Amino acid sequence: MTQVRTVPTTPFEGQKPGTSGLRKKVRVFQQSGYAENFIQSVFDVVERPEAPTLVLGGDGRFYNRTVIQQAIRMAAANGYARVLVGQGGILSTPAASNVIRKYKASGGLILSASHNPGGPDEDFGIKYNIANGGPAPEAVTEAIYARTTAIDAWRTIDTPDIDLDTLGSVLVGTMTVEVIDPVADYADLMEELFDFAAIRAVVASGFTMRFDAMSAVTGPYASAILEGRLGFAEGTVVNGQPLEDFGGHHPDPNLIHAKDLYDLMMGPDAPDLGAASDGDGDRNLIIGRGRFITPSDSLAMLAANIECAPAYRGRLTGIARSMPTSAAADRVAQALGVPCFETPTGWKFFGNLLDAGMVTICGEESAGTGSDHVREKDGLWAVLLWLNILAVRGISVDQLAKEHWARFGRNYYARHDYEAVNKEGADALMAGLVAQLPTLAGTVLGDLTVAAADSFAYTDPVDGSVSANQGIRVLFEGGSRVVFRLSGTGTAGATLRVYLENFVPPSGDLDADTSAMLAAQIAAAEAVAGIAGHTGRTAPDVIT
Ligand code: G6P
Ligand code: ZN
Repeated sequence: MTQVRTVPTTPFEGQKPGTSGLRKKVRVFQQSGYAENFIQSVFDVVERPEAPTLVLGGDGRFYNRTVIQQAIRMAAANGYARVLVGQGGILSTPAASNVIRKYKASGGLILSASHNPGGPDEDFGIKYNIANGGPAPEAVTEAIYARTTAIDAWRTIDTPDIDLDTLGSVLVGTMTVEVIDPVADYADLMEELFDFAAIRAVVASGFTMRFDAMSAVTGPYASAILEGRLGFAEGTVVNGQPLEDFGGHHPDPNLIHAKDLYDLMMGPDAPDLGAASDGDGDRNLIIGRGRFITPSDSLAMLAANIECAPAYRGRLTGIARSMPTSAAADRVAQALGVPCFETPTGWKFFGNLLDAGMVTICGEESAGTGSDHVREKDGLWAVLLWLNILAVRGISVDQLAKEHWARFGRNYYARHDYEAVNKEGADALMAGLVAQLPTLAGTVLGDLTVAAADSFAYTDPVDGSVSANQGIRVLFEGGSRVVFRLSGTGTAGATLRVYLENFVPPSGDLDADTSAMLAAQIAAAEAVAGIAGHTGRTAPDVIT
Protein backbone atom coordinates (compact mmCIF):
# COMPACT_ATOMS: atom_id res chain seq x y z
CA MET A 1 0.00 0.00 0.00
CA THR A 2 1.11 3.55 -0.70
CA GLN A 3 2.90 5.10 2.23
CA VAL A 4 1.32 8.05 4.04
CA ARG A 5 3.77 10.92 4.18
CA THR A 6 3.56 13.35 7.10
CA VAL A 7 4.77 16.82 6.17
CA PRO A 8 5.78 19.11 9.06
CA THR A 9 4.29 22.58 8.83
CA THR A 10 3.71 25.77 10.80
CA PRO A 11 0.45 27.76 10.93
CA PHE A 12 -0.36 30.50 8.43
CA GLU A 13 -2.03 33.56 9.82
CA GLY A 14 -5.55 34.48 8.80
CA GLN A 15 -7.03 31.12 7.77
CA LYS A 16 -10.35 32.12 9.27
CA PRO A 17 -13.33 31.17 7.11
CA GLY A 18 -15.57 34.17 6.32
CA THR A 19 -19.24 34.30 5.35
CA SER A 20 -18.61 31.49 2.91
CA GLY A 21 -15.35 29.65 3.44
CA LEU A 22 -11.72 30.71 3.22
CA ARG A 23 -11.22 33.24 0.43
CA LYS A 24 -7.86 34.71 -0.48
CA LYS A 25 -5.92 35.80 -3.50
CA VAL A 26 -4.57 32.92 -5.61
CA ARG A 27 -1.05 34.08 -4.76
CA VAL A 28 -1.80 33.51 -1.09
CA PHE A 29 -3.07 30.00 -1.79
CA GLN A 30 0.02 29.31 -3.90
CA GLN A 31 2.32 29.56 -0.89
CA SER A 32 3.78 26.16 -0.20
CA GLY A 33 1.58 24.32 2.29
CA TYR A 34 -1.13 26.99 2.47
CA ALA A 35 -4.00 25.00 0.97
CA GLU A 36 -2.68 21.82 2.57
CA ASN A 37 -2.70 23.36 6.06
CA PHE A 38 -6.31 24.42 5.63
CA ILE A 39 -7.49 21.12 4.16
CA GLN A 40 -5.70 19.15 6.90
CA SER A 41 -7.33 21.38 9.52
CA VAL A 42 -10.71 20.53 8.00
CA PHE A 43 -9.97 16.80 8.01
CA ASP A 44 -8.69 17.03 11.60
CA VAL A 45 -11.85 18.49 13.06
CA VAL A 46 -14.90 17.47 11.01
CA GLU A 47 -17.16 14.59 11.89
CA ARG A 48 -16.55 11.46 9.86
CA PRO A 49 -18.11 8.04 10.12
CA GLU A 50 -16.24 4.83 9.25
CA ALA A 51 -15.08 4.67 5.62
CA PRO A 52 -16.31 8.15 4.76
CA THR A 53 -17.04 9.62 1.34
CA LEU A 54 -15.84 13.10 0.41
CA VAL A 55 -17.32 15.18 -2.43
CA LEU A 56 -14.92 17.40 -4.31
CA GLY A 57 -15.49 20.00 -6.99
CA GLY A 58 -15.29 23.64 -7.79
CA ASP A 59 -16.31 26.43 -10.08
CA GLY A 60 -13.47 25.78 -12.51
CA ARG A 61 -11.54 28.92 -11.70
CA PHE A 62 -7.76 29.18 -11.96
CA TYR A 63 -6.00 26.90 -9.43
CA ASN A 64 -9.06 24.63 -9.12
CA ARG A 65 -7.36 21.61 -10.68
CA THR A 66 -4.18 22.00 -8.61
CA VAL A 67 -6.02 22.02 -5.29
CA ILE A 68 -8.31 19.18 -6.36
CA GLN A 69 -5.31 16.94 -7.01
CA GLN A 70 -3.79 17.92 -3.64
CA ALA A 71 -7.07 17.30 -1.85
CA ILE A 72 -7.44 13.84 -3.42
CA ARG A 73 -4.01 12.77 -2.21
CA MET A 74 -4.65 14.21 1.24
CA ALA A 75 -8.06 12.54 1.48
CA ALA A 76 -6.40 9.21 0.70
CA ALA A 77 -3.83 9.84 3.44
CA ASN A 78 -6.54 10.84 5.91
CA GLY A 79 -8.64 7.72 5.79
CA TYR A 80 -11.37 8.58 3.30
CA ALA A 81 -12.72 5.52 1.53
CA ARG A 82 -14.12 7.30 -1.48
CA VAL A 83 -13.96 10.66 -3.23
CA LEU A 84 -16.64 11.76 -5.70
CA VAL A 85 -15.20 14.46 -7.92
CA GLY A 86 -16.95 16.29 -10.74
CA GLN A 87 -15.52 15.73 -14.21
CA GLY A 88 -12.96 18.42 -15.01
CA GLY A 89 -13.02 19.32 -11.32
CA ILE A 90 -16.39 20.97 -11.90
CA LEU A 91 -19.33 20.98 -9.51
CA SER A 92 -21.55 23.97 -9.00
CA THR A 93 -22.16 24.74 -5.33
CA PRO A 94 -25.80 23.54 -5.39
CA ALA A 95 -24.84 20.48 -7.43
CA ALA A 96 -22.16 19.64 -4.85
CA SER A 97 -24.74 20.00 -2.10
CA ASN A 98 -27.01 17.59 -3.96
CA VAL A 99 -24.23 15.04 -4.53
CA ILE A 100 -23.29 15.12 -0.83
CA ARG A 101 -26.90 14.38 0.12
CA LYS A 102 -27.68 11.88 -2.60
CA TYR A 103 -24.59 9.72 -2.06
CA LYS A 104 -24.54 10.14 1.75
CA ALA A 105 -21.09 11.67 1.86
CA SER A 106 -19.75 12.87 5.19
CA GLY A 107 -19.08 16.23 3.59
CA GLY A 108 -17.49 18.02 0.69
CA LEU A 109 -14.83 20.53 -0.23
CA ILE A 110 -16.12 23.16 -2.65
CA LEU A 111 -13.39 25.15 -4.33
CA SER A 112 -14.76 28.54 -5.19
CA ALA A 113 -14.61 32.22 -4.47
CA SER A 114 -18.18 32.50 -5.73
CA HIS A 115 -18.74 35.75 -7.63
CA ASN A 116 -15.22 37.12 -7.09
CA PRO A 117 -13.03 37.35 -10.21
CA GLY A 118 -10.69 34.47 -11.08
CA GLY A 119 -7.19 34.15 -12.53
CA PRO A 120 -3.59 34.17 -11.27
CA ASP A 121 -3.98 37.62 -9.68
CA GLU A 122 -7.54 37.16 -8.50
CA ASP A 123 -9.37 35.10 -5.92
CA PHE A 124 -9.60 31.48 -4.83
CA GLY A 125 -11.49 29.83 -2.02
CA ILE A 126 -12.15 26.60 -0.16
CA LYS A 127 -15.35 25.86 1.67
CA TYR A 128 -16.35 22.79 3.65
CA ASN A 129 -19.94 21.52 3.55
CA ILE A 130 -21.26 19.03 6.07
CA ALA A 131 -23.27 15.85 5.63
CA ASN A 132 -26.60 17.65 5.20
CA GLY A 133 -25.09 19.28 2.10
CA GLY A 134 -24.93 22.73 3.64
CA PRO A 135 -22.08 25.07 4.56
CA ALA A 136 -20.38 24.17 7.82
CA PRO A 137 -22.06 26.00 10.70
CA GLU A 138 -20.10 28.48 12.79
CA ALA A 139 -19.12 25.96 15.47
CA VAL A 140 -17.41 23.89 12.76
CA THR A 141 -15.72 26.82 10.99
CA GLU A 142 -14.49 28.09 14.38
CA ALA A 143 -13.01 24.67 15.13
CA ILE A 144 -11.35 24.57 11.70
CA TYR A 145 -9.89 28.01 12.31
CA ALA A 146 -8.64 27.07 15.77
CA ARG A 147 -6.95 24.05 14.22
CA THR A 148 -5.21 26.19 11.57
CA THR A 149 -3.55 28.17 14.35
CA ALA A 150 -2.02 25.08 15.94
CA ILE A 151 -1.39 22.74 13.02
CA ASP A 152 2.06 21.15 12.87
CA ALA A 153 1.76 18.58 10.10
CA TRP A 154 -0.35 17.54 7.12
CA ARG A 155 -0.65 14.14 5.54
CA THR A 156 -0.50 13.10 1.91
CA ILE A 157 0.55 10.20 -0.27
CA ASP A 158 2.86 10.32 -3.24
CA THR A 159 0.74 9.37 -6.20
CA PRO A 160 0.50 10.98 -9.63
CA ASP A 161 -2.35 13.31 -10.61
CA ILE A 162 -5.48 11.49 -11.67
CA ASP A 163 -7.20 12.10 -15.00
CA LEU A 164 -10.02 14.45 -14.02
CA ASP A 165 -11.50 14.54 -17.50
CA THR A 166 -12.45 10.89 -17.92
CA LEU A 167 -15.55 9.51 -16.19
CA GLY A 168 -15.01 6.39 -14.10
CA SER A 169 -13.24 5.03 -11.04
CA VAL A 170 -9.57 4.88 -10.15
CA LEU A 171 -7.71 3.88 -7.00
CA VAL A 172 -5.53 6.40 -5.21
CA GLY A 173 -3.74 4.41 -2.55
CA THR A 174 -6.58 2.31 -1.20
CA MET A 175 -9.17 5.05 -1.75
CA THR A 176 -11.60 4.98 -4.67
CA VAL A 177 -11.93 8.15 -6.71
CA GLU A 178 -15.01 8.36 -8.90
CA VAL A 179 -15.02 11.02 -11.57
CA ILE A 180 -18.73 11.75 -11.97
CA ASP A 181 -20.86 13.63 -14.47
CA PRO A 182 -21.32 16.97 -12.68
CA VAL A 183 -24.64 17.74 -14.38
CA ALA A 184 -26.72 14.55 -14.54
CA ASP A 185 -27.78 14.18 -10.88
CA TYR A 186 -28.61 17.86 -10.65
CA ALA A 187 -30.62 17.92 -13.87
CA ASP A 188 -32.59 14.87 -12.71
CA LEU A 189 -33.39 16.60 -9.42
CA MET A 190 -34.65 19.70 -11.23
CA GLU A 191 -36.89 17.55 -13.40
CA GLU A 192 -38.40 15.99 -10.26
CA LEU A 193 -39.13 19.37 -8.70
CA PHE A 194 -40.64 21.30 -11.58
CA ASP A 195 -43.31 21.00 -14.21
CA PHE A 196 -41.00 20.50 -17.18
CA ALA A 197 -43.96 19.58 -19.41
CA ALA A 198 -45.60 22.96 -18.78
CA ILE A 199 -42.34 24.78 -19.45
CA ARG A 200 -41.71 22.77 -22.62
CA ALA A 201 -45.19 23.68 -23.82
CA VAL A 202 -44.69 27.45 -23.47
CA VAL A 203 -41.26 27.20 -25.04
CA ALA A 204 -42.80 25.37 -27.99
CA SER A 205 -45.36 28.12 -28.33
CA GLY A 206 -42.72 30.85 -28.52
CA PHE A 207 -41.58 31.75 -24.99
CA THR A 208 -37.96 32.93 -25.19
CA MET A 209 -35.18 33.57 -22.74
CA ARG A 210 -31.52 34.38 -22.41
CA PHE A 211 -29.39 32.81 -19.70
CA ASP A 212 -25.99 34.38 -19.12
CA ALA A 213 -23.65 31.85 -17.48
CA MET A 214 -20.97 34.55 -17.20
CA SER A 215 -18.26 32.11 -18.41
CA ALA A 216 -18.62 30.38 -15.07
CA VAL A 217 -19.81 27.04 -13.77
CA THR A 218 -23.49 27.08 -14.74
CA GLY A 219 -22.85 26.91 -18.50
CA PRO A 220 -22.94 23.10 -18.75
CA TYR A 221 -25.92 22.87 -16.39
CA ALA A 222 -27.93 25.54 -18.16
CA SER A 223 -27.19 24.15 -21.62
CA ALA A 224 -28.20 20.64 -20.58
CA ILE A 225 -31.40 21.71 -18.85
CA LEU A 226 -32.63 24.77 -20.76
CA GLU A 227 -31.56 23.84 -24.28
CA GLY A 228 -31.39 20.08 -23.78
CA ARG A 229 -34.36 19.10 -21.61
CA LEU A 230 -36.65 22.10 -22.03
CA GLY A 231 -36.24 22.81 -25.72
CA PHE A 232 -35.07 26.42 -25.67
CA ALA A 233 -33.30 27.38 -28.89
CA GLU A 234 -29.59 26.84 -29.17
CA GLY A 235 -27.86 30.08 -28.17
CA THR A 236 -30.30 30.72 -25.32
CA VAL A 237 -27.36 30.14 -22.97
CA VAL A 238 -24.63 32.71 -23.55
CA ASN A 239 -21.09 32.69 -22.12
CA GLY A 240 -21.74 29.00 -21.49
CA GLN A 241 -18.15 27.79 -21.49
CA PRO A 242 -16.57 27.82 -17.99
CA LEU A 243 -13.27 29.73 -18.18
CA GLU A 244 -10.51 29.83 -15.55
CA ASP A 245 -10.64 33.63 -15.47
CA PHE A 246 -14.35 33.99 -16.34
CA GLY A 247 -13.25 35.82 -19.48
CA GLY A 248 -11.73 38.54 -17.31
CA HIS A 249 -15.15 39.48 -15.93
CA HIS A 250 -16.64 39.59 -12.48
CA PRO A 251 -19.02 36.60 -12.45
CA ASP A 252 -21.55 38.37 -10.26
CA PRO A 253 -25.09 38.46 -11.64
CA ASN A 254 -26.05 42.02 -10.80
CA LEU A 255 -26.97 45.06 -12.84
CA ILE A 256 -23.36 46.22 -13.08
CA HIS A 257 -21.63 42.98 -14.01
CA ALA A 258 -24.49 41.59 -16.10
CA LYS A 259 -25.12 44.91 -17.79
CA ASP A 260 -25.35 43.41 -21.30
CA LEU A 261 -28.21 41.23 -20.16
CA TYR A 262 -29.90 44.14 -18.44
CA ASP A 263 -29.59 46.33 -21.53
CA LEU A 264 -31.05 43.57 -23.69
CA MET A 265 -33.97 43.11 -21.31
CA MET A 266 -34.74 46.83 -21.28
CA GLY A 267 -34.52 47.12 -25.08
CA PRO A 268 -36.85 46.37 -27.98
CA ASP A 269 -35.44 42.86 -28.63
CA ALA A 270 -35.87 41.55 -25.12
CA PRO A 271 -36.86 37.89 -24.75
CA ASP A 272 -39.52 36.97 -22.19
CA LEU A 273 -37.01 36.20 -19.44
CA GLY A 274 -33.42 37.19 -18.77
CA ALA A 275 -31.43 35.36 -16.12
CA ALA A 276 -27.86 34.87 -14.97
CA SER A 277 -25.88 33.03 -12.33
CA ASP A 278 -22.54 33.57 -10.63
CA GLY A 279 -19.12 31.93 -10.53
CA ASP A 280 -20.20 28.83 -8.59
CA GLY A 281 -23.85 28.73 -9.62
CA ASP A 282 -25.62 29.57 -6.40
CA ARG A 283 -26.77 33.12 -7.17
CA ASN A 284 -29.41 34.27 -9.61
CA LEU A 285 -30.50 37.38 -11.44
CA ILE A 286 -34.05 37.62 -12.79
CA ILE A 287 -35.12 40.26 -15.29
CA GLY A 288 -38.39 40.25 -17.19
CA ARG A 289 -38.98 42.21 -20.37
CA GLY A 290 -38.56 45.78 -19.08
CA ARG A 291 -38.70 44.68 -15.44
CA PHE A 292 -35.85 43.92 -13.02
CA ILE A 293 -36.87 41.84 -10.02
CA THR A 294 -34.87 42.47 -6.85
CA PRO A 295 -33.73 39.30 -5.04
CA SER A 296 -35.89 40.29 -2.07
CA ASP A 297 -38.97 40.59 -4.28
CA SER A 298 -38.05 37.39 -6.09
CA LEU A 299 -38.16 35.45 -2.81
CA ALA A 300 -41.57 36.91 -1.99
CA MET A 301 -42.98 36.29 -5.46
CA LEU A 302 -41.66 32.74 -5.66
CA ALA A 303 -43.05 31.94 -2.22
CA ALA A 304 -46.45 33.39 -3.11
CA ASN A 305 -46.63 31.22 -6.25
CA ILE A 306 -44.86 28.10 -5.10
CA GLU A 307 -48.00 26.00 -5.50
CA CYS A 308 -47.36 26.09 -9.26
CA ALA A 309 -44.41 23.74 -8.82
CA PRO A 310 -45.38 20.09 -8.34
CA ALA A 311 -42.81 19.21 -5.68
CA TYR A 312 -43.85 22.11 -3.44
CA ARG A 313 -47.62 21.79 -3.67
CA GLY A 314 -49.20 21.84 -0.21
CA ARG A 315 -45.94 21.69 1.66
CA LEU A 316 -44.79 25.24 2.36
CA THR A 317 -44.02 25.17 6.10
CA GLY A 318 -42.28 28.51 6.44
CA ILE A 319 -40.07 31.12 4.79
CA ALA A 320 -36.68 32.42 5.91
CA ARG A 321 -34.78 35.49 4.83
CA SER A 322 -31.55 37.10 5.97
CA MET A 323 -31.94 40.23 8.08
CA PRO A 324 -30.81 42.71 5.40
CA THR A 325 -33.25 41.18 2.89
CA SER A 326 -36.44 43.22 2.54
CA ALA A 327 -39.57 42.29 4.45
CA ALA A 328 -41.52 41.55 1.25
CA ALA A 329 -41.43 37.83 2.08
CA ASP A 330 -42.80 38.50 5.57
CA ARG A 331 -46.02 39.82 4.04
CA VAL A 332 -46.41 36.71 1.94
CA ALA A 333 -45.77 34.47 4.94
CA GLN A 334 -48.39 36.35 6.90
CA ALA A 335 -50.94 36.02 4.12
CA LEU A 336 -50.24 32.31 3.76
CA GLY A 337 -50.30 31.75 7.52
CA VAL A 338 -46.76 30.39 7.79
CA PRO A 339 -43.87 31.70 9.91
CA CYS A 340 -41.11 33.89 8.51
CA PHE A 341 -37.65 33.67 10.09
CA GLU A 342 -35.06 36.46 10.02
CA THR A 343 -31.48 35.14 10.11
CA PRO A 344 -28.01 36.68 9.86
CA THR A 345 -26.37 37.00 6.45
CA GLY A 346 -24.98 33.68 5.23
CA TRP A 347 -26.74 30.64 3.84
CA LYS A 348 -25.42 28.48 6.66
CA PHE A 349 -27.96 30.04 9.00
CA PHE A 350 -30.81 28.44 7.01
CA GLY A 351 -29.43 24.93 7.46
CA ASN A 352 -30.98 24.12 10.82
CA LEU A 353 -34.37 25.57 9.84
CA LEU A 354 -34.39 23.50 6.65
CA ASP A 355 -33.23 20.32 8.40
CA ALA A 356 -35.93 20.75 11.03
CA GLY A 357 -38.60 21.20 8.33
CA MET A 358 -39.44 24.63 9.73
CA VAL A 359 -38.98 26.38 6.38
CA THR A 360 -39.31 25.31 2.76
CA ILE A 361 -37.96 28.31 0.87
CA CYS A 362 -35.25 30.82 1.80
CA GLY A 363 -33.65 33.84 0.25
CA GLU A 364 -31.17 36.63 0.62
CA GLU A 365 -30.83 40.08 -0.88
CA SER A 366 -27.43 39.00 -2.21
CA ALA A 367 -29.09 37.22 -5.14
CA GLY A 368 -29.57 33.95 -3.30
CA THR A 369 -32.74 31.89 -3.37
CA GLY A 370 -33.22 28.23 -2.59
CA SER A 371 -35.28 25.59 -0.87
CA ASP A 372 -35.11 22.35 1.05
CA HIS A 373 -34.10 20.43 -2.12
CA VAL A 374 -30.43 21.05 -1.22
CA ARG A 375 -28.69 23.02 1.53
CA GLU A 376 -27.24 25.78 -0.62
CA LYS A 377 -28.82 28.60 -2.50
CA ASP A 378 -29.35 27.59 -6.10
CA GLY A 379 -29.21 29.89 -9.10
CA LEU A 380 -30.67 27.64 -11.78
CA TRP A 381 -33.31 26.34 -9.40
CA ALA A 382 -34.59 29.90 -8.97
CA VAL A 383 -34.65 30.41 -12.73
CA LEU A 384 -36.53 27.15 -13.23
CA LEU A 385 -39.07 28.00 -10.52
CA TRP A 386 -39.69 31.34 -12.24
CA LEU A 387 -40.11 29.54 -15.56
CA ASN A 388 -42.46 27.02 -13.96
CA ILE A 389 -44.61 29.78 -12.46
CA LEU A 390 -44.71 31.87 -15.63
CA ALA A 391 -45.56 28.80 -17.70
CA VAL A 392 -48.36 27.60 -15.45
CA ARG A 393 -49.84 31.05 -14.89
CA GLY A 394 -49.36 32.21 -18.47
CA ILE A 395 -48.30 35.73 -17.50
CA SER A 396 -45.21 37.88 -17.95
CA VAL A 397 -42.68 38.76 -15.26
CA ASP A 398 -43.91 42.36 -15.31
CA GLN A 399 -47.57 41.34 -14.91
CA LEU A 400 -46.68 39.01 -12.06
CA ALA A 401 -44.73 41.73 -10.25
CA LYS A 402 -47.48 44.31 -10.63
CA GLU A 403 -50.11 41.89 -9.44
CA HIS A 404 -47.95 40.94 -6.45
CA TRP A 405 -47.40 44.55 -5.37
CA ALA A 406 -51.07 45.36 -5.83
CA ARG A 407 -51.85 42.63 -3.33
CA PHE A 408 -49.01 42.88 -0.82
CA GLY A 409 -47.60 46.38 -1.32
CA ARG A 410 -44.05 47.04 -2.48
CA ASN A 411 -40.84 47.12 -0.51
CA TYR A 412 -38.67 49.51 -2.52
CA TYR A 413 -35.15 48.28 -1.95
CA ALA A 414 -31.52 48.88 -2.88
CA ARG A 415 -28.10 48.00 -1.57
CA HIS A 416 -25.21 50.45 -1.82
CA ASP A 417 -21.74 48.92 -1.70
CA TYR A 418 -18.55 50.81 -0.92
CA GLU A 419 -15.89 48.36 -2.00
CA ALA A 420 -12.28 47.96 -0.88
CA VAL A 421 -12.44 50.91 1.48
CA ASN A 422 -9.90 51.47 4.20
CA LYS A 423 -10.47 48.92 6.97
CA GLU A 424 -9.84 51.36 9.83
CA GLY A 425 -12.33 53.83 8.37
CA ALA A 426 -14.97 51.14 7.96
CA ASP A 427 -14.43 49.87 11.50
CA ALA A 428 -14.65 53.41 12.84
CA LEU A 429 -17.93 53.93 10.97
CA MET A 430 -19.43 50.81 12.50
CA ALA A 431 -18.07 51.69 15.96
CA GLY A 432 -19.61 55.14 15.60
CA LEU A 433 -22.99 53.60 14.89
CA VAL A 434 -22.71 51.24 17.85
CA ALA A 435 -21.86 54.18 20.10
CA GLN A 436 -24.98 56.04 18.95
CA LEU A 437 -27.36 53.10 19.44
CA PRO A 438 -28.53 53.94 22.97
CA THR A 439 -29.64 57.44 21.98
CA LEU A 440 -30.81 57.06 18.37
CA ALA A 441 -34.51 56.44 19.00
CA GLY A 442 -36.42 59.66 18.50
CA THR A 443 -33.62 61.32 16.51
CA VAL A 444 -34.77 63.20 13.41
CA LEU A 445 -32.66 62.55 10.31
CA GLY A 446 -33.92 64.78 7.51
CA ASP A 447 -37.48 63.67 6.74
CA LEU A 448 -37.25 60.57 8.92
CA THR A 449 -37.51 59.91 12.63
CA VAL A 450 -35.72 56.93 14.14
CA ALA A 451 -38.16 54.56 15.81
CA ALA A 452 -35.58 52.03 17.01
CA ALA A 453 -32.01 50.98 16.37
CA ASP A 454 -30.02 47.91 17.33
CA SER A 455 -27.18 45.59 16.54
CA PHE A 456 -28.80 42.47 15.12
CA ALA A 457 -28.33 39.26 17.11
CA TYR A 458 -29.82 35.88 16.25
CA THR A 459 -30.68 32.95 18.43
CA ASP A 460 -31.04 29.80 16.36
CA PRO A 461 -34.45 28.35 17.27
CA VAL A 462 -33.21 24.80 16.69
CA ASP A 463 -29.92 24.59 18.57
CA GLY A 464 -30.08 27.78 20.64
CA SER A 465 -26.74 29.09 19.37
CA VAL A 466 -26.38 32.86 19.43
CA SER A 467 -24.76 34.98 16.70
CA ALA A 468 -24.25 38.60 17.76
CA ASN A 469 -23.05 41.73 15.90
CA GLN A 470 -24.72 40.82 12.61
CA GLY A 471 -25.32 44.37 11.39
CA ILE A 472 -26.72 47.67 12.59
CA ARG A 473 -30.43 48.27 11.98
CA VAL A 474 -31.91 51.75 12.02
CA LEU A 475 -35.69 51.50 11.82
CA PHE A 476 -37.72 54.62 11.03
CA GLU A 477 -41.23 55.59 11.92
CA GLY A 478 -43.49 54.55 9.03
CA GLY A 479 -41.69 51.26 8.50
CA SER A 480 -38.69 52.15 6.35
CA ARG A 481 -35.16 51.26 7.45
CA VAL A 482 -31.43 51.41 6.80
CA VAL A 483 -29.04 48.56 7.65
CA PHE A 484 -25.24 48.79 7.83
CA ARG A 485 -22.93 45.79 7.59
CA LEU A 486 -19.37 45.01 6.66
CA SER A 487 -19.07 42.27 4.06
CA GLY A 488 -17.66 38.94 5.18
CA THR A 489 -16.64 37.81 1.70
CA GLY A 490 -14.23 40.46 0.42
CA THR A 491 -10.50 39.86 0.01
CA ALA A 492 -9.22 43.47 -0.09
CA GLY A 493 -9.74 46.12 2.62
CA ALA A 494 -13.33 46.32 3.79
CA THR A 495 -16.61 46.51 1.93
CA LEU A 496 -19.37 48.54 3.52
CA ARG A 497 -22.91 47.52 2.62
CA VAL A 498 -25.78 49.91 3.18
CA TYR A 499 -29.21 48.33 2.73
CA LEU A 500 -32.12 50.67 2.09
CA GLU A 501 -35.80 49.82 2.27
CA ASN A 502 -39.06 51.74 2.05
CA PHE A 503 -42.45 50.03 2.16
CA VAL A 504 -45.37 51.39 0.15
CA PRO A 505 -48.82 49.86 0.75
CA PRO A 506 -51.07 48.67 -2.10
CA SER A 507 -52.77 52.06 -2.14
CA GLY A 508 -49.43 53.88 -2.70
CA ASP A 509 -47.26 54.52 -5.75
CA LEU A 510 -46.25 51.02 -6.85
CA ASP A 511 -44.37 51.86 -10.03
CA ALA A 512 -42.05 54.69 -9.06
CA ASP A 513 -38.31 55.06 -9.50
CA THR A 514 -36.50 53.11 -6.77
CA SER A 515 -33.78 55.70 -6.11
CA ALA A 516 -36.41 58.44 -5.73
CA MET A 517 -38.39 56.28 -3.34
CA LEU A 518 -35.25 55.73 -1.25
CA ALA A 519 -33.89 59.29 -1.32
CA ALA A 520 -34.86 60.03 2.29
CA GLN A 521 -33.30 56.77 3.52
CA ILE A 522 -30.09 57.44 1.55
CA ALA A 523 -29.78 60.89 3.10
CA ALA A 524 -30.51 59.51 6.57
CA ALA A 525 -27.82 56.84 6.12
CA GLU A 526 -25.21 59.47 5.36
CA ALA A 527 -26.38 61.65 8.24
CA VAL A 528 -26.22 58.91 10.84
CA ALA A 529 -23.09 57.07 9.66
CA GLY A 530 -20.90 59.74 8.06
CA ILE A 531 -20.08 57.47 5.11
CA ALA A 532 -18.16 60.09 3.14
CA GLY A 533 -16.09 61.14 6.14
CA HIS A 534 -15.16 57.59 7.14
CA THR A 535 -14.58 56.09 3.70
CA GLY A 536 -13.60 59.07 1.58
CA ARG A 537 -16.29 58.03 -0.90
CA THR A 538 -19.17 60.23 -1.96
CA ALA A 539 -20.97 57.56 -3.98
CA PRO A 540 -21.25 53.76 -3.81
CA ASP A 541 -19.25 51.59 -6.22
CA VAL A 542 -22.13 49.24 -6.85
CA ILE A 543 -25.87 49.66 -6.45
CA THR A 544 -27.89 46.47 -6.56
C1 G6P B 1 -22.12 34.54 0.12
C2 G6P B 1 -22.98 33.73 1.04
C3 G6P B 1 -24.32 34.39 1.20
C4 G6P B 1 -24.16 35.81 1.64
C5 G6P B 1 -23.27 36.56 0.69
C6 G6P B 1 -22.99 38.00 1.07
O1 G6P B 1 -22.65 34.53 -1.16
O2 G6P B 1 -23.15 32.43 0.55
O3 G6P B 1 -25.09 33.65 2.06
O4 G6P B 1 -25.40 36.47 1.68
O5 G6P B 1 -22.05 35.87 0.59
O6 G6P B 1 -22.04 38.09 2.03
P1 G6P B 1 -21.33 39.42 2.43
O7 G6P B 1 -20.77 39.12 3.77
O8 G6P B 1 -20.30 39.74 1.39
O9 G6P B 1 -22.40 40.49 2.45
ZN1 ZN C 1 -21.78 32.02 -5.35
